[in-house]
Amino acid sequence: MHFKDYIANLPAYKPPKLIGQQTSDVVKLSSNENALGPSPRALAALQMALETIHRYPDSGALALRQALGARVDLPPEAVLCSNGSDEMVLLLCMAFLREGDEAVMAEGTFISYLLRTLAVGSQPVRVPLRSYTHDLSALADAITARTRLLFVCNPNNPTGTTNGADEMDALLTRVPDDVLVVVDEAYVEFVARADYPDLLPELRKGRRNLILMRTFAKIYGLAGLRLGYGYAHPDLINYLDRARPVFNVNALAQIAGLAALDDIDHVARSRAHAADSRIFFDRELTALGLHPINSETNFIAVAVGDDMTVADGLRQCGFTVTPLTGWGVPGCIRISFGIPEQNERFIAALADVLSVKRDE
Ligand SMILES: Cc1ncc(COP(=O)(O)O)c(C=O)c1O
Repeated sequence: MHFKDYIANLPAYKPPKLIGQQTSDVVKLSSNENALGPSPRALAALQMALETIHRYPDSGALALRQALGARVDLPPEAVLCSNGSDEMVLLLCMAFLREGDEAVMAEGTFISYLLRTLAVGSQPVRVPLRSYTHDLSALADAITARTRLLFVCNPNNPTGTTNGADEMDALLTRVPDDVLVVVDEAYVEFVARADYPDLLPELRKGRRNLILMRTFAKIYGLAGLRLGYGYAHPDLINYLDRARPVFNVNALAQIAGLAALDDIDHVARSRAHAADSRIFFDRELTALGLHPINSETNFIAVAVGDDMTVADGLRQCGFTVTPLTGWGVPGCIRISFGIPEQNERFIAALADVLSVKRDE
């Protein structure tokens, strides 16, 4: 067999380490999941749908695409669904990158952009973050004649930071027509910042070199079902549609996704939980003498010195977090928000691990 070197050389995915596989004893604060659980409406719809799983799903996911389009005043032809937005990243890389082409992205952002670019034999061009935030003008500066994709993660995973509308407009003005800008908005529903860019009008005006990626894995609490989606020009969606597996979005994901969209209470609760948790972690991490990074998401990152050792210590106390040196954010850990009681215990554990004395 002839293996492709650039695939064989990729690192294997390492799932978060759980103590002795006793998963129920471990509080997982390492994957930015929804601590409140799945949308109850989605759960109810799933119960009803179980008896129909001998049928193939709708390969076009039409009902879901119609609902997603209607919410933002776009036609279903401007919506593509995927097996998580992770699959969308792979589809984009397959569809736009040839060997030797370049994809511009931040250093210290969602790792899929890097790995999928490498998986199709293309060249990642990585631009350092500035103050833990995407440096959009430096990303534009990094575009060459070989650039085909430019990834912006807004809010950024793993730092939780955002870019505002003015700098995003400036970026879109500078990007040549033949470079596709991929804006990953996986955490958009948690954002409070008033000048967060609304890029949907660009699509309504017919802009062709822009795709917005979103997911049901975060605010809707459906990470395990694998459901992502993208908004883009219908010609772009039509092109990507040819590259995807016919049944990439399973039947249960489609049904649960539709129900979750209408679950206004669950969305509101999840948003309030993230907002309250941000205030809690800002206050408590600061009280430990740390400097948490300003987050607009359901997680927070903070510099702790030796991130691997601190993450190991926390694991011994029953919490998994993500050390970020390997993500290009040295010395930081990323903490996904748990429920309040877990968050309280987590802060106590972190104080122990860092040997910080706390005022009770
Ligand atoms: C920025 C970002 N994009 C995409 C994803 C992947 O989402 P999905 O579960 O839909 O594949 C994540 C998941 O953590 C993420 O943080």
